[in-house]
This record gives sequence, structure tokens and C-alpha cells, in this order.
Amino acid sequence: MIRFIKGADERKRIAREILEALTDWFEVEESREQYIADSAGQPFWASVDDGITEGFLCLKETGKESMELAVMGVRRECHRKGIGRKLFEAAKDYAVRKGYEFIQVKTVRSGLYEDYDITNEFYKSLGFKELEVLSDYWDEANPCQIYVMSLKSTVNTIAARHSYRGAFLQEEVPEEHLIIIAKAGTEAPSGCNKQTTDIIVVNDPEVLARIKAQIDPPIAATAPAMIVVLTRRINAYRNRCFAVQDYSAAIENMLLAIVELGYQSCWYEGHITDDDRICDKIAAVLNVPENYDVVCILPVGKAADEFHAPGKKAFSERVHFNRWS
Ligand SMILES: Cc1cc2nc3c(=O)[nH]c(=O)nc-3n(C[C@H](O)[C@H](O)[C@H](O)COP(=O)(O)O)c2cc1C
Repeated sequence: MIRFIKGADERKRIAREILEALTDWFEVEESREQYIADSAGQPFWASVDDGITEGFLCLKETGKESMELAVMGVRRECHRKGIGRKLFEAAKDYAVRKGYEFIQVKTVRSGLYEDYDITNEFYKSLGFKELEVLSDYWDEANPCQIYVMSLKSTVNTIAARHSYRGAFLQEEVPEEHLIIIAKAGTEAPSGCNKQTTDIIVVNDPEVLARIKAQIDPPIAATAPAMIVVLTRRINAYRNRCFAVQDYSAAIENMLLAIVELGYQSCWYEGHITDDDRICDKIAAVLNVPENYDVVCILPVGKAADEFHAPGKKAFSERVHFNRWS
């Protein structure tokens, strides 16, 4: 299981435990101690199984737009179990959610040591691209290879998206970002191109407050902006109505745009369409015409709290190749 480690002391303890078990890689005590000290203040993940810490990874911010994979170690006896990959996926999702553009890693240039060749192949298999060689980074004999990965890809954004139900920072969401998000919704496919989904962007604090006043028990109470999703339940052809599919596609597009821009959200539909019909009260506040239903709200804002990604079933439990297995 991959865990985000919060406390500086626990981070140091884990980094020490793993790096000391890898002394042939991190042989210089001084630099090992530096890695351990640095890791205490950085985003840090550990893989723990049956009480045993198998490995860890920590990131470092190298600029407003980029993060570096600062240090990573997996016990030798735990190699080839996919732990490094899982640690990296968790770290990458975090960097995507925080809105970083790139992640980079520095390593000894391939071809010098067998272990480093394996490491470099590992980075390439994760999707890193070789960027440049700095021959004087460590010393002439040990050139540094920089690998880089763009975080702005659709599949990275899909993997990083999770429902966020925590508090939001009190920062205004620029209107140009809200336009990008709403446009992503309008660009979704719809049955027979009937475009049955409409969107109301709410960024006026007064209107926002009036909507929030309808939501009891409260959700998204601190969100600085909100997208309200409306549907028109008409038939696409004969008696086939695809309104649910249409607005679902629009909502997922908007959730992905929200994450790609560094904001968080949650698909709130059950809460507002239950027997107490909060959706109808929101519709009344927003002057929604009778032939449209409010079906969902998406808060938009920067997360103030930590994330809790829910567990998903194993890939092999849900995905089958060529026949049910
Ligand atoms: C149709 C639909 C309705 C949902 N309604 C709610 C809701 O009312 N409240 C809520 O907290 N989450 C709601 N969610 C979010 C799900 O709980 C969430 O997607 C699920 O637990 C998986 O977590 P993830 O989004 O982090 O992958 C809804 C999701 C869908 C697709």
C-alpha cells in the first residue's frame, strides 16, 4: 500500500531505514545524510506491506512549474514487484493535481554502470524522455543525464483526478479558467449531437452564497466558484433519450479540465437530486427554465486539505481481454 507520509520525523526514519539498506548505491555517508535531511520537508510516499517499509520516494519543487524526483529507494528484496512504479504514480498524480507542468529526474548517464542502466530504463518505461547531458554536474567521469516528463497529458490528468470534498483556499478562480472548464463541457459528445446539457458558471459571490444557502447538509461550503449542470430530457431519436449520457460526458470533461488547471472538484449529484430536491431550489435561484433540470454541481477551487484517493478494484478484476476471464 502506498501512503503519503506527513511528519518530518517519520520521513527521516523511513529514508534512513531504506537508504541504509542500500549502502552500495548510497555509499557516501555524507550525501546519504543529506538526502535523509532533505527528504523531511518534501512531499514523501512510502510503500508499506504487512508492517514492512519496502521503499520510499520524495519529490522536490524546483520551480513554480516543475518538480524533481529527488530521491527514491526500494529494498533489494522488494525489487521487481512494481513498487517503484506505484510510488512514482502516486507522486505524479500529486504533481498533476498541484498544477505542475513537468517532473524531472537526474541520473548518471546510461552506459557507465549496470545498475544505472537499469535505473535509466526504468525512468524511460515510466514515460520520461532524455533531455540533456550535463558533463560537469558531478564530475567529468560521471555525466548527469536529465530526464523530463510533461505532466500535462490527458492520461496523467485522468489518473490524478479524484473527488475532493475538503476545504478550498479563498482564492478567486480567474474567469478565463472558468471559460476553459465550461468549454470542455460543451465539447463533450452527445447522442445525435442534440447537446442537451447546459452549464451555468457561478462566480458572483452573492449568487454563490444564495446557492450554498440551499444546500443542507452543506457541501462545497468554501468553494470560490461553482459549475451548475443542467439537462434537457428530450429524445435523441424515436423514444431514445440520451440526456444522462450527454451530461455525464460533459461533467467528466469539465472535471478533467478542472484538474488540469490545478483546481479540484467533486461530482455532486446524489446529494442535490435526493428526495429533498435541493436541485430544484438551486434552479429557482438561477432562474432555470422549466424544461431544464439541475442535475449536478461541481465546486471549483484550489484544495486547502490533503487528498484521499479512494481504493479502486484491481485492473485485472475489471478489464478483460478478448473474453470474460
Ligand atoms: C452520478 C454520480 C453521483 C455522485 N454524487 C455524489 C454526491 O452526491 N456526493 C459525493 O460526495 N460524491 C458524489 N459522487 C462522487 C463519487 O462518490 C466518486 O466519484 C466515487 O466515490 C469514486 O471516487 P473518485 O471520484 O475519487 O474516483 C458522485 C459520482 C457520480 C458519478
